[in-house]
Amino acid sequence: MSAVERERRLVVVSNRVGPLDDEGKAGGLAVGLADALRRRGGLWFGWSGDTAENAAAAKEKTEIVGDTALVTIDMTEEELNGFYLGYANRTLWPLLHYRLDLAEFDRGSEAIYRGVNARFAERLMPLIDADDLVWVHDYHFFFFGAELRRLGFSGRLGYFLHIPFPPPEIVSALPAAHDLVSAMLAFDVLGFQTETDRANFAAFVTRELGGEAGEDGLLTLDDREVVARAFPIGIDAEGFERFALSPEAGEHEEMLRDIARDRVQIVGVDRMDYSKGLVERLRGFGRLLEEHPDTHGRVQFLQIAPLSRAELEAYAALRRELEELAGHINGRFATLDWTPVTIMTRPFTRRALAGIYRGARVCLVTPLRDGMNLVAKEFVAAQDPGDPGVLVLSRFAGARAELGEALIVNPHSADDLAKALRTAIAMEPDERRRRHAALRDAVFNNTAADWCETFLAVLEDDLKLPA
Ligand code: ADP
Ligand code: G6P
Repeated sequence: MSAVERERRLVVVSNRVGPLDDEGKAGGLAVGLADALRRRGGLWFGWSGDTAENAAAAKEKTEIVGDTALVTIDMTEEELNGFYLGYANRTLWPLLHYRLDLAEFDRGSEAIYRGVNARFAERLMPLIDADDLVWVHDYHFFFFGAELRRLGFSGRLGYFLHIPFPPPEIVSALPAAHDLVSAMLAFDVLGFQTETDRANFAAFVTRELGGEAGEDGLLTLDDREVVARAFPIGIDAEGFERFALSPEAGEHEEMLRDIARDRVQIVGVDRMDYSKGLVERLRGFGRLLEEHPDTHGRVQFLQIAPLSRAELEAYAALRRELEELAGHINGRFATLDWTPVTIMTRPFTRRALAGIYRGARVCLVTPLRDGMNLVAKEFVAAQDPGDPGVLVLSRFAGARAELGEALIVNPHSADDLAKALRTAIAMEPDERRRRHAALRDAVFNNTAADWCETFLAVLEDDLKLPA
């Protein structure tokens, strides 16, 4: 990076802000951005997580951590309901995870969503200037760039979508689809997790909006030129490996091995979200027990699933279904000294999680759709290269593009999951080591820092400054 580039301040905008320390909360966005900001410093702007009677009048809260200023503002109750619990998580989240069946389309919440984008942009405007690199994140803020431009911001504007972008056939079900994608073209650089997401976005711009696709991700529509590319997000691999070797991780690793005794320990770590394929995963585990009695008493499955967006019915229903299914499997197969499935909703520190990953023989990462999935990468980074565990990975996780040496499964198929579990349980150390070495290379060669630097290098390309 040149000296000139280093002078530019990074301004990150995302709904969730921080924390920057190791006690990160569940969610790939917060974890990925914290890794990036810890290294580079800058301003991180977004929602405080609180509500206020009159958010427009409320002052920003500012916290300085190292070289980063965390600046947050409150939302009103109405905004929380219409923006966060409404349009963002009842409409956009299911739609972009290919779940048209769960997506709700409501004009009122769409208006509030747009209003929050406008209001947050207005609050950010006095804090930035044209030399800053402004980088907006995720599905909460599709209109943020257009709002900043409306307010006269002339500097470089980047955007990164952490979740999938489905094909135009799905996106176009959204009543505001054309507006939303057109608004995204106010950014100079648009980042997606995978080539598939990027291609889907380009297809929308060309087929639905009549734009043109050029070389190197260039998209043009009328007088707008934007660059849309895949920038797969990574983790702080070395940092996470260090976590896995910390005393706190060691304690958890040992506890897990103690509980497992000589059983094969299988783990899953996911927010309690319907995109994660948790019910299908349990069915796969149930199928293994049903069809292979020799596994009884020899395997156990720990699913860590911190509660997420629990106010929403789809999430509450998932929790009920999952707990019922786990109860059913345990009721059917448990013996006095063996409980096949445990579900835990409590959060863990990142060091504790690293120890749990390291103590497990198999990790199930089987989302029905996922932008990337950082858990898959964390599991790989936490392993002992001399005696590594096996990653079972959904073909529908963005991470699949980089982690092809995992056991790749169709998460909808209980048979496929059961078969992969059998393969994982029986896998010889040589094959485990060979696969892990390839996975480890992939995880260590594309870190959070690489992701950030690659994106910002494209964003800093002054050739495409708007006139
Ligand atoms: P998503 O962003 O959809 O939640 P990811 O797998 O990309 O999915 O990211 C999840 C992040 O949340 C990971 O960094 C993971 O370590 C973290 N996480 C998951 N469960 C917990 C937990 N119980 N306690 C703390 N962090 C968690
Ligand atoms: C995913 C999304 C993030 C979100 C996180 C946690 O990682 O991409 O934008 O912050 O889930 O969800 P929450 O609704 O608690 O912010």
